[in-house]
Amino acid sequence: MAGAGISTPSGIPDFRSPGSGFYDNLQQYDLPYAEAIFEIEFFHRNPNPFFALAKELYPGNYQPNLTHYFVSLLHKKGQLLRMYTQNIDGLERLAGVPPEMLVEAHGTFATATCTSCLRKYDGEDLRPEVMSGKVPQCPTCKGVVKPDIVFFGEELPRHFFKYLADFPLADLLIIMGTSLEVEPFASLAGAVRSSVPRLLINRDLVGPFVWGQRTNDVVQLGDVVGGIKTLVDALGWTPELEALMAAGNQKPQDREEGWDDINY
Ligand code: APR
Repeated sequence: MAGAGISTPSGIPDFRSPGSGFYDNLQQYDLPYAEAIFEIEFFHRNPNPFFALAKELYPGNYQPNLTHYFVSLLHKKGQLLRMYTQNIDGLERLAGVPPEMLVEAHGTFATATCTSCLRKYDGEDLRPEVMSGKVPQCPTCKGVVKPDIVFFGEELPRHFFKYLADFPLADLLIIMGTSLEVEPFASLAGAVRSSVPRLLINRDLVGPFVWGQRTNDVVQLGDVVGGIKTLVDALGWTPELEALMAAGNQKPQDREEGWDDINY
């Protein structure tokens, strides 16, 4: 289970860290309150603040960090049952976690939907308008096209409910980089059997690690990259993770060259 705290090492602010979190830095958007930027009612009235934020967050500007590659390594070693992420930055896919191993519980920029005629679009179709600060318009009906990010007030994607089958099967739950403030995602932390160890890797204690720790819970407080390095070192996987990162860091350059060719 992951949240925005696994992407701060990649340069993307999280939401609630005092001072640096997104919600402390939205003054320029003239919002009634911070979360309004992700509220569907507000979006229908005024989509501009969200698209200004989307321009900063749009996939392609950031690279995965060691934490994302660790999940990819877990998968390569046949140890990953599924990764449940709240993040919309797409860095898990970029690090090589296959889409079928991912539940992007709060949606993704990879696809988009017209809010009027519900026509589906690829996230890349919107890139030019988002990057030039325009609100993407549906060529068919001129409605506003919204990336498939789950806003407050919207249903979570159907594949979120895979947890009903996944969590009873898990024999270890790793929770990293999340405040566990947002439901229903946060409740997944209590969905594993009581005999299953839960490992929290986070700057601070959150959710049930504050109000209801289990005897077999394990907590690794501090920076998530440092915490993952400690775990990987204990597993003897450091060389493999470094090799995976080196290979991964090669790939995005080629892809970026690809994008440039296409754009020009
Ligand atoms: N190392 C360790 N922990 C970190 C790091 C780091 N480098 N950076 C941030 N954290 C921790 C913070 O201390 C905090 O506990 O990660 C957590 C991030 O919490 P939030 O900012 O609340 O992000 P998240 O939990 O993903 O928010 C959940 O809220 O607004 C909605 O939809 C949005 O998906 C988001 C949801």
